[in-house]
Amino acid sequence: MLPPSLSFAVLALGTAVYAKASFHAALQDIHIYARQQDGNATGPSTVLLADLATGGAVTPSGEIIRSILQNTAPATVDNSIVYTRPAAVANRGQGGLDSVACRQDTCCVWSYIVAPMNTSVTVPDFAQDGSVGSGGADGSLLLSAGELQRSENRGMGNYADLMLSWRNAFSRYAPGLTVADLIQVGATVATVTCPGGPRIRTFVGRPDVDGRIPPPAQHLLPSPDSSAATILELFAAKTFSATDVVALAGAHTVSHQYVTEPRYAGAPQDTTDGVFDSRFYAETEAAVPPAGIYSFQSDKQLSTDAATQSLWSQYAQPDAQTKWAEEYATAYFRLSLLGVQKLNGLTDCSGVLPLAKPVP
Ligand code: HEM
Repeated sequence: MLPPSLSFAVLALGTAVYAKASFHAALQDIHIYARQQDGNATGPSTVLLADLATGGAVTPSGEIIRSILQNTAPATVDNSIVYTRPAAVANRGQGGLDSVACRQDTCCVWSYIVAPMNTSVTVPDFAQDGSVGSGGADGSLLLSAGELQRSENRGMGNYADLMLSWRNAFSRYAPGLTVADLIQVGATVATVTCPGGPRIRTFVGRPDVDGRIPPPAQHLLPSPDSSAATILELFAAKTFSATDVVALAGAHTVSHQYVTEPRYAGAPQDTTDGVFDSRFYAETEAAVPPAGIYSFQSDKQLSTDAATQSLWSQYAQPDAQTKWAEEYATAYFRLSLLGVQKLNGLTDCSGVLPLAKPVP
């Protein structure tokens, strides 16, 4: 039996709550709209989120985020965008971290944090349930009781330890430092560190969830056994289109599996390990996959299902790298903002990211 779908809960709750015209209802409504408009459409979703949907863009950050969400601006930044530490910090090396000038510049502490981050690949916290007011990119993976221990988050313990060690090391220099931001910056740093990985625009300022609020409902994440329809439905309830889903699945170009099939523990999902390239798509859809790789059934389903097969095949073309990397970045950018209520209040720190490297 399929797990209860978030979208049905959203539909049921949405009607009743909308009558109260609450902010919460508006969020539910966005999910319903997204499901109706984008679930089966091709092209990236253009659904606005949170305060951008209810009040529009009222800050420069809000305007950039709005244009990316509406797909009128790229979600990537090129290598010319480089953060420069304030003059009073610049020549003090590691000592500059503990300075007034660095504390006064939101991106300064991040320019130090990215250094130890750049060898780890992180999986974003994706469980989100509007009905309990928690979930999304809010740090709940680490902060909400029991979320990390769930079967759907198996294998995440090491990343959690890393995140908490960085929070412990850096929070005295930036009291507002959140686990929610550490997870998201960790993911964009890791992505661009891989050759071929897009340099995805990176904002900070996400608040952490209150760990006392019940964690998001379980089974909001697809499993490796999920059908394409189930995967599309779970993602559509979070405003993602089919194009977004197929693009995001390409993250498995750099993944390994350990717990899905223990007999092949450590097996990668394509033959170009550590390279963020689109070869994963051709190798997953191949009738006879290359030796040594392990393809998730969920990815196989997406590569053959009538709703997603042509999208998958586009990315499987030999010249698809640029298109896929851009569309991956667009979908990932959306993923990194789910559940954040005040998008107008975020700060763009993209310049602290390592520089992008081409596919070899
Ligand atoms: C479409 C739905 C998805 C399913 C069903 C799925 C499933 C899985 C599974 C089963 C594993 C291996 C777990 C193990 O056996 O150790 C895995 C690993 C991974 N996935 Fe996904 N995934 C999905 C979407 C995503 C998305 C959207 C991203 C990122 C944008 C992502 C990034 C990763 C990464 C980075 C790993 C490797 C973790 C590691 O090496 O420790 N996945 N995924």
